[in-house]
Amino acid sequence: MTAVKIGILTVSDRASRGEYEDLGGPAIAAYLNEVLSCPWTPVQKIVSDDTTIISDALVELCDAHQCCLVITTGGTGPALRDVTPEATEAVCEKMMPGFGELMRKVSLEKVPTAILSRQTAGIRGKSLVVNLPGKPRAIAECLDAVFPAIPYCIDLIV
Ligand code: MTE
Repeated sequence: MTAVKIGILTVSDRASRGEYEDLGGPAIAAYLNEVLSCPWTPVQKIVSDDTTIISDALVELCDAHQCCLVITTGGTGPALRDVTPEATEAVCEKMMPGFGELMRKVSLEKVPTAILSRQTAGIRGKSLVVNLPGKPRAIAECLDAVFPAIPYCIDLIV
């Protein structure tokens, strides 16, 4: 069985400069190792909070690496440099707002600040891009809610 490629994109100025250990990317990889029953290969990148740099990384993961799924972590909040949702929207042909709505709903049961995340999801070609907040604990909280729909979504776009 051929391994599917999954992109893991950490968006953080400090992590991209090496001033802060990337905890989100490894947490996503650990989560996927737990839930996936098929062989998969991670393609991991860390970029700064810059719209063009994030968009370019998404295009590379979707088009050049042909990842069927790209999960981002970080940059979804209200701060000036939080631009991951904008970068996602810039490269996706179709937005999937239900992912963000559901992730915020379940996250609000855990933390009142979940309302501050503008996380979304979208389709670029044959790839599904899903945004997660930057807090490592948010990864399982959000993915538990939406993961059941992800394989079916990918089946529909290939
Ligand atoms: N969602 C979950 N499940 N758990 C969290 O701890 N943190 C919130 C929110 N969503 C959080 C969450 C906070 S404090 C912020 S500021 C926003 O996500 C945006 O985070 P980001 O800019 O790191 O993406």
